[in-house]
Amino acid sequence: IPVDPFDLVIFGGTGDLARRKIYPGLYQRMKAGQMPAEARIVGAARSEHDDEEFRGIVRDALIEFVPEKDIDSETLEAFLACLSYEAVDARGDAGWEELKGHIRDGVVHAFYFSVAPSLFGDLAERLHTYGMAGDGCRIVVEKPFGHDLASAKELNATLEKHFSEEQIYRIDHYLGKETVQNLMAVRFGNVLFEPLWNAQYVDHIQITVAETVGVGGRGEYYDRSGAMRDMVQNHLMQLLCLIAMEPPSRFGSDEVRDEKLKVIRALEPVQPHHIIRGQYEAKGDEPDFREDAGDPRSRTESFIALRLAISNWRWAGTPFYLRTGKKLKARTSEIAVVFKDAPHSIFDETGKSHRNILTIRLQPNEGMELCVTIKEPGPGGMRLVDVPLDMTFADALGPDGADIPEAYERLIMDVIRGNQTLFMRGDEVEAAWAWTDPLIAGWEARNDVPKPYEPGSSGPEDALMLMHRDGRKWREIK
Ligand code: BG6
Repeated sequence: IPVDPFDLVIFGGTGDLARRKIYPGLYQRMKAGQMPAEARIVGAARSEHDDEEFRGIVRDALIEFVPEKDIDSETLEAFLACLSYEAVDARGDAGWEELKGHIRDGVVHAFYFSVAPSLFGDLAERLHTYGMAGDGCRIVVEKPFGHDLASAKELNATLEKHFSEEQIYRIDHYLGKETVQNLMAVRFGNVLFEPLWNAQYVDHIQITVAETVGVGGRGEYYDRSGAMRDMVQNHLMQLLCLIAMEPPSRFGSDEVRDEKLKVIRALEPVQPHHIIRGQYEAKGDEPDFREDAGDPRSRTESFIALRLAISNWRWAGTPFYLRTGKKLKARTSEIAVVFKDAPHSIFDETGKSHRNILTIRLQPNEGMELCVTIKEPGPGGMRLVDVPLDMTFADALGPDGADIPEAYERLIMDVIRGNQTLFMRGDEVEAAWAWTDPLIAGWEARNDVPKPYEPGSSGPEDALMLMHRDGRKWREIK
């Protein structure tokens, strides 16, 4: 269904994120018939370009970042025709009147802050001063949303000076991932899972976001963040919320976000021995983390594993194990819900454990797998074996399922449609920092040194021990 015509201004319009994700995402939506040709996209940045030069920049970006099979010249030309450019000084007055000239009456206005957070306040202020911050407009902001609770509060306060919460779209691109949304569809669209979705039947839950890339190229930013701030406070926390939250009364933005917030607030403080931090070592010609980070004494973690507990009626006694890291064995993101053993075995299989495991694969090969126990085929007696019921969405849904849209496509269209369900609310972000801050302060006070791990491995040995100690095992990263 096409969205209504809109004016979208992208601050940081020639930057990396815009070129890699925003224009390719919008292009794909136009190709899919969702973005109308009457839409206007205005790139805004400091450097001077005329419209033709800007279209050239975007054309190059599309050719580089859109899969070749999706590029067709008709859509490409129609898309480029929607673009214009304005040189704007975020900290001064140059360009703002001209920018205002691009904004049409009677259509949705959105302003995408694809710039460093230090400029958010300036942009918000000038949008207001130049009369562009009216009730109907929306602003989109990217992570990192603060560095800790104090800075997140400050950012919220800055934005809230000129915009209401209903106008602010804080992006966590994990929420735009198709499988993440499917998690809610599976939980709340079926009767099969929800009755079992609690401490009585679930032994534990594992969330893994493993990456093969290192931090080279963005070492300076990463050294100030580490895996906790870069991934856990936002992406993994969001996954945890969706898996653990109570069913909202409807799939509405406040209903969903209210439930997520309750999960974050119910997180117990984490014991120091339930936090394992790691740093990748050098391998062959590839530098170690400290060299990538540009600090030979860096104690920032490129890997973290945690055991969390949620103190509420549903989850008391069920641990949640989270891990994420760079330079690991494979690029895999998955959530595994590991159910308990059947309470009594009638099959003379003393000591053997058979567990149902529901795995939700975020990437690659988005899909779900349910591990069930069946009889081993053959005449050899009643022996049990665990087999996967596998549903790769691309296979199950046929040709349409193969084209899983990128997170940004969905999220930008949601901004235009005015749907905030997949965006973080201010209080959610603050609650996540309020939980994160003491953990970081704790390891800083203990002078904790991250454990080294070999690139291409599953992280430091201690992370394996975190589960072994509990008589449990991480799923293999593959
Ligand atoms: C970003 C982090 O938010 O997410 C990066 O800053 C990380 O460090 C990236 O690599 C992972 O996203 P995805 O979609 O590739 O899993």
